[in-house]
Amino acid sequence: MGVRVDAVWAGNSPFWGKGGKSPVPVFFFPSIYDIPRTVQFCSCNVFSTQDHAMAALVKKGTGVYGWKGETDEEYVWCLDQTVYFPDGKPLNMILDDGGDLTNWVHEKHPDIISGVRGITEETTTGVCNLNRLLKEGKLKVPAINVNDSVTKTKFDNLYGCKESLVDGIKRATDVMLAGKVCVVAGYGDVGKGSAQALKGFGARVIVTEVDPINALQAAMEGFEVTTMEEAVVKGQIFVTTTGCPSIIRGEHMLAMQDNAIVCNIGHFDSEIDVKWLKENAERDTIKPQVDRFKLSNGRHIILLAEGGTVNLGCATGHPSFVMSTSFANQVLAQIELWTKHEEYPTGVYRLPKKLDEEVAAAHLDHLGVKLTKLNEKQSKYLGLNPSGPFKPDHYRY
Ligand SMILES: NC(=O)c1ccc[n+]([C@@H]2O[C@H](COP(=O)([O-])OP(=O)(O)OC[C@H]3O[C@@H](n4cnc5c(N)ncnc54)[C@H](O)[C@@H]3O)[C@@H](O)[C@H]2O)c1
Repeated sequence: MGVRVDAVWAGNSPFWGKGGKSPVPVFFFPSIYDIPRTVQFCSCNVFSTQDHAMAALVKKGTGVYGWKGETDEEYVWCLDQTVYFPDGKPLNMILDDGGDLTNWVHEKHPDIISGVRGITEETTTGVCNLNRLLKEGKLKVPAINVNDSVTKTKFDNLYGCKESLVDGIKRATDVMLAGKVCVVAGYGDVGKGSAQALKGFGARVIVTEVDPINALQAAMEGFEVTTMEEAVVKGQIFVTTTGCPSIIRGEHMLAMQDNAIVCNIGHFDSEIDVKWLKENAERDTIKPQVDRFKLSNGRHIILLAEGGTVNLGCATGHPSFVMSTSFANQVLAQIELWTKHEEYPTGVYRLPKKLDEEVAAAHLDHLGVKLTKLNEKQSKYLGLNPSGPFKPDHYRY
């Protein structure tokens, strides 16, 4: 999302929303309309835009560049439209999800980079991109890693995917999950949510991992952990969640059972070798974002969302409640970088723990949660301020 902050900075929450994850942020948009034409959206991938939600924004006069089912070329066109506003001025803040706008502005519009005060990044893969740019000396703007706010990664990535993965698979295929063997590649936050959701439906879940800690966690949660090479013959549904390229390759697909369902919920479309599939199998499009490929061995692969994020491509992303925790972090990060930019030399930062706790606190009432207060004796004993922060930065939750 390209953001243009001018003289107007009124209200408590000038920014809500992000390009492409859920239609529900529309309900938050009135705060943006108080500052007309100060944000321009583009989708964060070719299938993620909810056209009805974006149409509502367009009606209100917001610049929206995205529609469901863009080509790669159209996606790039949309990305470029968010850089300049109708008054000819460029964006001066970036709210990103995956790093495409960050890279685009750095590479294609270096002339405006000095006017950009900050970048806030939503997702794991985008944060990897920021860290890479920083390491290579290419990052020119201070950035806040929103993903690693606890109230983002441990909620959106985990609980969000826990609900939206199965939503995507079921809307696409109407398949019965109970009893099926499902293979989840990666047991990070997204993988944990995915594996738990499939298990909850009665599926038998196999996990693959490269990290011994995550592998041990998966085993101790009761999942079988093995390699993709071994899992591939047993699985009926495959879900990639790693953010790592080439997880499911041609040789894996050739070894799968007939009509194996293959999908990805990591960011974005490099985990499944879709190129190989398109070049080596006969495609039959069942409906948009559901393709059945006939392999040379006569068996079939059912590919969802063309290997892009299945929860966005085949469903409408995470529920709004969990997105609200993510967006609250985005809002705080945007305000932080805009208002205190002189305190942030170029680098990749995180929001302070206190703000993380405030995001969580703001969501308790809705669930009827009653929080216990530390009394004086207890807070003295624990060495904590009764109003927080309650944990050190390294605490893992
Ligand atoms: N679709 C969505 O709505 C959504 C939401 C949040 C995050 N994401 C994306 O999902 C991906 C994962 O995010 P996360 O927060 O779980 O990251 P994470 O780092 O917590 O988890 C990724 C896991 O994959 C494992 N892994 C890496 N390479 C592997 C390989 N070759 N084989 C098996 N396991 C491997 C890692 O060890 C790690 O445990 C990222 O790309 C992120 O951007 C998508």
